[in-house]
Amino acid sequence: MKLNTVVVLDFGSQYTQLIARRIREQKVFSVILPYNARLEEVLSQYPKAIVFSGSPANVYQKKAPLPDPRILNTRLPILGICYGLQLIGHLLKGKVKRSEHREYGHAELFVDSKDGLFHRLPRRITCWMSHGDQLVALPKGFEALAHTTHSPYAAIRDPKRQIYGVQFHPEVVHTPLGNRILANFLFRISNVKADWTSRSFIEESIEKIRRQVGKEKIVLGLSGGVDSSVAAVLIHRAIGKQLTCIFVDNGLLRLEEAKRVKKVFEDHFKMRICSVIAEKEFLKALQGVTDPEIKRKTIGRLFIEVFERETRKLGKVPFLAQGTLYPDVIESVSVFGGPTSTIKSHHNVGGLPSKMKFRLVEPLRMLFKDEVREVGRALGLSSEIVDRQPFPGPGLAVRVIGEVTKERLDLLRRADWIVIDEVKKAQLYKKLWQAFAVLLPIQSVGVMGDERTYENVVAVRAVTSQDGMTADWAKLPEDLLGRISNRIINEVRGINRVCYDISSKPPATIEWE
Ligand code: XMP
Repeated sequence: MKLNTVVVLDFGSQYTQLIARRIREQKVFSVILPYNARLEEVLSQYPKAIVFSGSPANVYQKKAPLPDPRILNTRLPILGICYGLQLIGHLLKGKVKRSEHREYGHAELFVDSKDGLFHRLPRRITCWMSHGDQLVALPKGFEALAHTTHSPYAAIRDPKRQIYGVQFHPEVVHTPLGNRILANFLFRISNVKADWTSRSFIEESIEKIRRQVGKEKIVLGLSGGVDSSVAAVLIHRAIGKQLTCIFVDNGLLRLEEAKRVKKVFEDHFKMRICSVIAEKEFLKALQGVTDPEIKRKTIGRLFIEVFERETRKLGKVPFLAQGTLYPDVIESVSVFGGPTSTIKSHHNVGGLPSKMKFRLVEPLRMLFKDEVREVGRALGLSSEIVDRQPFPGPGLAVRVIGEVTKERLDLLRRADWIVIDEVKKAQLYKKLWQAFAVLLPIQSVGVMGDERTYENVVAVRAVTSQDGMTADWAKLPEDLLGRISNRIINEVRGINRVCYDISSKPPATIEWE
């Protein structure tokens, strides 16, 4: 039971996860619940305060997302953000209407009362606005705390009931003092304690894993990526040799990956690792396959087969560990409905089908990615692992365009190694979401010395992104691009041309397949 939790009710804002993360950055645990969570569900989290997120909806529209009305009477401090403020105004009988001047972007906030939310903040603050509706009449018992040129009620409160609202977004970086406003809400108004740290998380998780698993065995699909690595070390810390990690070398991994996994987890952490060399099996199944979806499905299916086979050899294993993270668990709220179409069928190491009769252990399911990295560091994992860029489950197979063969994989591995090496040397590795090479299914004419060549083409892809959902192609320095190209062409025999991919997502995706 967490005693210092803040519940964030999600009304469909693009910033909901950011609100939860900002609260956690203040070392306060926060959970996201859908806007229509019943009061009982909200109270089951033992919250000390509640935050209403923004929303693309309008409070006065027919199917506006509304919270359980009893939530406003719990006497818990509430902070409404943007739509959240309007919602408080609307539900408590103030007046919200479409504004004549929509406010988007930076605005100057004039603080009228420095009590509570704006304690120890300047009288003028830069804030980020993004709204077309506004509160035009305060509900009974409320007072204005701040205004902008176009919003008379840019921050409000009911001092008796401790209900607050801000029209602007304190959670985004464009409100530079936003963190201090949130801190005032948490610590001055809600009396929350800052007790959420990696160390407290690790201690609690170890207890929980021991209680859940008892003396039984557990398996984990170790990919060498951040999430499965941190989950593995955490579980190992809790129950040691009861954990077996299955590492499938499918032949589609980056250069020296298998060696690295052995060195870190077996030699250093002394974990029980079952390494399966399944290169031949995977390459055989991929023979002649060029369609990206068939490639992905083939790899996913085969991974499960291999994993099941290895697990059976371990005898009775009731538990399976997965490195699931919080963004995969949060019930996504769709205010306007509508299913999304499948762009790519993702395969994750550890994402096994429910027909496998395991009980799941998911120690990271309440963490955001940056928190997983923190926990990893606290557990003694090196930056080389916790700061790794994401790598797709189907591996290099989706980066060898066209048929996947051992020769083509080897070419790509060497080119990819150079990209990463140069990006690291330029101190850009952590700034990029991903940087990698893609082997294209064409050949081009070149000249080396006096000789004509007719060889392969590599595309270099580097993107910046917050979450992989959208991405910008990275404006890498020209000299870095030059070094990458030069080294690939000189050091990897069989490649005579390098291109740089300058497409963003959308409309392109990050991976080519
Ligand atoms: P796309 O290509 O869809 O990729 O823009 C978005 C992010 O997801 C990664 N990716 C995958 N990760 N299994 C994974 O675990 C997969 O099947 C998979 N496919 C793509 C990709 O590397 C990028 O970071």
